[in-house]
Amino acid sequence: MKGVVLHGGKGTRLRPLTHTGPKQLIKVGGKPISQWGIENLVKHGVTDIAIVLGENNPEKVIDYYGDGTEFSANFTYIYQGEARGLAEAIYRCKDFVGNDRFIVHLGDNIVQHGLELLVNTKDEAAVLLAKVTDPSRYGVAEVNRDRIVRLVEKPKEFVSDLALVGVYSFSSTIFDIIEGLKPSRRGELEITEAIQKVIESGDTVGFAVVDGWWKDTGTPDDMLSANMRILDFSTDYKIHGSVENANIEGRVYLGRNSKIVGSTVRGPAYIGEDTLVENSFVGSYMSIGNGCRISDTEISNSLVFDNSKIRDCKLTDSIIGYNCNIEKNRKKPEGSRLITGEGSSVSI
Ligand code: DAU
Repeated sequence: MKGVVLHGGKGTRLRPLTHTGPKQLIKVGGKPISQWGIENLVKHGVTDIAIVLGENNPEKVIDYYGDGTEFSANFTYIYQGEARGLAEAIYRCKDFVGNDRFIVHLGDNIVQHGLELLVNTKDEAAVLLAKVTDPSRYGVAEVNRDRIVRLVEKPKEFVSDLALVGVYSFSSTIFDIIEGLKPSRRGELEITEAIQKVIESGDTVGFAVVDGWWKDTGTPDDMLSANMRILDFSTDYKIHGSVENANIEGRVYLGRNSKIVGSTVRGPAYIGEDTLVENSFVGSYMSIGNGCRISDTEISNSLVFDNSKIRDCKLTDSIIGYNCNIEKNRKKPEGSRLITGEGSSVSI
């Protein structure tokens, strides 16, 4: 069994966070979104993995993952470039896969349960489904008794509320099917359409409806909610750094050389290495990266990426990128000053 993990796509809905790197490398709970998926594959015995690269800073993906040794896996990099669809990205892995079976994991999806089915299935294709309230955002499956009878990508009219989770299992016959696909109305080769053709050819598409959580992290709100899930279910909570005159409430991870001084940190929370939290209230549901400094601040339910500094602020539900400097301007009257680029979305 081989694995394919997709790191392409435009990440438009996560701009400006995706101006300097692919969305799959955005860290929640101390690890890139795609690493949670890769670790899940490795845990299920899938260690020979192709990482498909897009146009957005592909070298950052290679820098981070290397040859795979550090992740108990063996990585092969395959360049897709422009995002021409999931099926097109998968087709580029034809030589890598050969005649093996393989699992495709979208690099921006995290899923708690269901990989066992995908690893053990004998069906030509198998998928995971999850009940959603907004099916028009996803590919959906119409299920009749115990069979999938139809799949539709981003249905305009209601078909089903069972969405396709971004993790799939295929035999190598899927490549012949992809060869016959035409671009969809959004100009992409759709994997949903390829699986629909498996059904039309009379083969069974195996499925399981996943209980537990699943997250597609296409938007900032999705990222924050993925952070919540991961911090809720993570078990790796340890204090490696130092705590002086501070309260640690609930489950908190504190990385090496990090310090919490004169503060309260309420878990669940993840704080990376070489980070200082002073005179602040942090949490709950915080993921703070390495080399950060949080001073005189109240912050909750947010992500702070590496090497950012926040001083004298009250923040919630925020995502602060790498190397940012956020501080209250005491020389200005109360109120917000905004200079927003085209298409910005600001909530004050
Ligand atoms: O998240 C589950 C959904 O993922 C499914 O329900 C849909 O059926 C499926 O089409 C897909 O929909 P999205 O619109 O969310 O796909 P998106 O374009 O966001 O791409 C998903 C991931 O695959 C993302 O990590 C980027 C990567 N990708 C995407 C394309 C189009 C590539 O690597 N190459 C590509 O060409």
